[in-house]
Amino acid sequence: MAMQLVKPEPRHFDEWRRWRIDPDARRFMYLPATGLEAWAGKLLSAKSDLSDRSGELYRWIGEVDGVPLGSLSLSYVDWNHLSCEVGYLVAPEARGKGHGRAMVAATLDLGFAAGLERITAYICTDNEASIRLVEGLGFQREGLLRRHAVIEGQRRDHYLYAMLTDEWRRPSGRAT
Ligand SMILES: CC(C)(COP(=O)(O)OP(=O)(O)OC[C@H]1O[C@@H](n2cnc3c(N)ncnc32)[C@H](O)[C@@H]1OP(=O)(O)O)[C@@H](O)C(=O)NCCC(=O)NCCS
Repeated sequence: MAMQLVKPEPRHFDEWRRWRIDPDARRFMYLPATGLEAWAGKLLSAKSDLSDRSGELYRWIGEVDGVPLGSLSLSYVDWNHLSCEVGYLVAPEARGKGHGRAMVAATLDLGFAAGLERITAYICTDNEASIRLVEGLGFQREGLLRRHAVIEGQRRDHYLYAMLTDEWRRPSGRAT
């Protein structure tokens, strides 16, 4: 199984939209008041090349054997402090098969190879799949952020996780 991260293109848009309106994605991922359509424009306008340090948002589509199955991002990229936040979303029918962890690992590879030194993840305290994903990769839980963000009208507690560049060990046996 060959997985690669590719630059988002218009051909990915409908699939991405379908993944993003899935109830579990809406339950755990912040959607701005401007709505999904405006937000979706960010998919195509974001950068993908981390050697271009003029950006704050970088996005990729994870394809497995050429089939788009996930969306990855590094956001709030601060090139002064070499830090950012990772985001991830897997197609509903493709979850629970290891694709999420493989795609996030590949995103960390890109980020750390580009010189970033700290990558965080903010995760709702009841998002078990996401918590298991990052803990399996070795992220450290750094704290509980009480009522950190509004998701579907509710203020939700989040855990703050982080991976540092010198802690990152890509688990072996991963499809790339
Ligand atoms: C979170 C998400 C990306 C995980 O992707 P995935 O491809 O299903 O994850 P993987 O198959 O790589 O599994 C990662 C871990 O989560 C566990 N897991 C997967 N689905 C699970 C579920 N529904 N409930 C509990 N654990 C689950 C797996 O068992 C694995 O843990 P383990 O290795 O300790 O057994 C996916 O569920 C998703 O897109 N959710 C909606 C969007 C979202 O929540 N994004 C993250 C916001 S912080």
